[in-house]
Amino acid sequence: MTFPSEPRAVGRDLPRRDGAVKVLGTATYAHETPLVNAAHLHAVQATIARGRVTALDTAAAEALDGVVAVLTPGTAERLASTEDRELAALQGEEVAFRGQVVALVVADSSEVARQAAALVRVEYAQQEHDAELRADREDLYAPETVNPDFPTDTAEGDVDAAMAAAEVSVEETYTTAMYHNNPMEPHATAALWEPAGDGLLTLWDSTQGVHSTRAVLASVFGLDEARVRVVCPYVGGGFGSKGQPHVNVVLAAMAARAVPGRPVRLALTRQQMFSLTGYRTPTIQRCRLAADRTGRLTAVAIDVVELTSRIKEFAEQSGVPARMMYASPNRRTTHRLAALDVPVPSWMRAPGECPGMFGPEVAMDELAERLGMDPVELRIRNEPGVEPGSGKPFSSRNLVGCLREGAARFDWSRRDPRPGVRRRGDWLVGTGVAASTYPVSRMPKSTATVRREGERYVAEIGAADLGTGTWTTLAQIAADALGVPVDRVEVRIGDTDYPMASVAGGSSGMTTWGSAVVEAAGAFRARYGSEPPDGAEASGTVGPPDERHAMHAFGAQFAEAHVHLDTGEVRVPRLLGVFAAGRIINPRTARSQFVGGMTMGLSMALHEKSVLDPRTGHVVNHDFAEYHIAANADVGTIEAHWLAEHDPHVNAVGSKGIGEIGIVGTAAAVSNAVWHACGVRVRDLPISLDKVL
Ligand code: MOS
Repeated sequence: MTFPSEPRAVGRDLPRRDGAVKVLGTATYAHETPLVNAAHLHAVQATIARGRVTALDTAAAEALDGVVAVLTPGTAERLASTEDRELAALQGEEVAFRGQVVALVVADSSEVARQAAALVRVEYAQQEHDAELRADREDLYAPETVNPDFPTDTAEGDVDAAMAAAEVSVEETYTTAMYHNNPMEPHATAALWEPAGDGLLTLWDSTQGVHSTRAVLASVFGLDEARVRVVCPYVGGGFGSKGQPHVNVVLAAMAARAVPGRPVRLALTRQQMFSLTGYRTPTIQRCRLAADRTGRLTAVAIDVVELTSRIKEFAEQSGVPARMMYASPNRRTTHRLAALDVPVPSWMRAPGECPGMFGPEVAMDELAERLGMDPVELRIRNEPGVEPGSGKPFSSRNLVGCLREGAARFDWSRRDPRPGVRRRGDWLVGTGVAASTYPVSRMPKSTATVRREGERYVAEIGAADLGTGTWTTLAQIAADALGVPVDRVEVRIGDTDYPMASVAGGSSGMTTWGSAVVEAAGAFRARYGSEPPDGAEASGTVGPPDERHAMHAFGAQFAEAHVHLDTGEVRVPRLLGVFAAGRIINPRTARSQFVGGMTMGLSMALHEKSVLDPRTGHVVNHDFAEYHIAANADVGTIEAHWLAEHDPHVNAVGSKGIGEIGIVGTAAAVSNAVWHACGVRVRDLPISLDKVL
């Protein structure tokens, strides 16, 4: 389907349609769903990392005024499917990680539910657990594939021989920390079965995908999908942690059936999110680069060691970006996992690319240093003509354009390459650069319906808006595809009653749902011409992606770092990113996503680290008091720019995804800037002051 080459609504800086209700506090989030006589839930969590529950005493909890029920493995219903062990709530006595749910209190208020949960007495038969990731573990294994379905290992040429023969080389180990997704809105679900305990299950859930949540819940409870409705108009962030339902959604549905006729609400606490809703695995990356004197790469290698949980495999694809980023005749990428007694890891913003561009992009800076070459030029020199590995042409690849534009904007040409020589008062000052990339994904299934309702045109699709701008940008796409003014278009999303939409993940939303809307609008115009009657309606489904091209977005990140001479305190007063991400649908919501991603990257560089104590299997800093994220005072100037890029191969609109690329490369740029400031290479995130002193 075609899209106007000079769109009128797409590209405009329109304010968010959902902005006013959010600012006024009237947007209804899952936990605020108006429901009569709702009961509240609170989970009881295991305090051991491995073993069995031998006794559960719920008497004191049940005796508390206002407690409706306490669900335990002894009283909870048997689920139809327990194949996904993360979701098999209260199905047995086994404890597989610290924080696992062992009982669930249903009460008249959230306060009573929480108090009662503390009164449940649990006894355990503890087994020895193992929660320590090390690269020298003997039980590391190669998963069958890495997420979502990439080969685990790749090899081309002979990296060892190229390293041995190299004029210049780098061989170092880089590590990224365990990180927890921390959206502002915690995971929350309201649930109701109608009629009582049977019939239709309605879930008001904070999710990145209503249809995918419905599919999983229907399978877990053995229901026809038509008997499950999932509603989610607003999401207070997810960053991947709401990309698939976690155990809290199952618990809510289970409890709603256990108290017939009553709706229930479950909002996890911030601390509970640290064990129940996913996180990013720590990574240990052995990176090798070899080059000739002119800076041409002769070998690129990354061997990644990560963790997964013993009950469910999650294999972060951190070695994947090194497969396509730069040209090299010899290349090797591997992934190895340790299956530990830890909570189940999951998606977190730019899974794969985010951790996987840290080691290689710092290694490129180290190589530039050894070559005596500018790090921007080194990257440009290794630009591939086609996608390494696949040999496919790029649909568009403007990494060089991003690097040059960023260098010009950042005044890079005046940079003195020597480390540790610039002082401003008590601070050492440096600048650094790193590249970004993120794949363009189009999900296989999504359908939109377009309808004329009086003077308005309505576009319906079960898409999600995580704060990303979908309410607004889908209207812009629909308006141009229909050839009508954008203020006559109404968008309806976030409900399984609307046509099937893919999950808001992998930065695929606009490509996928936008394509469905363009198809629906095309069918609508073909059927009704320019005078559609009231009630006129047409649907369209996203087509298959272009298989002939390699499709990725690219970017260049520049950072300025200050390191205090006496204390080692690191400050980043300026970040600048230039991105090539196809057509930008709305500059306002796009800038917000780029800047948000870069802020999260800054936070990863300087602050974030989940501390898992191997003695207990417990993330000890499991709240905002101790898990540090960048706050306002930590963030200086962040500029996001983009190149005018229209890529006709990615989709009719020409847009690539932008939700994730902003976090990719930021931490490497900061580490490279810190080295330039003070001469210390920090290969281990976060860059805390002890590492530069
Ligand atoms: Mo994103 S981590 O693919 O929701």
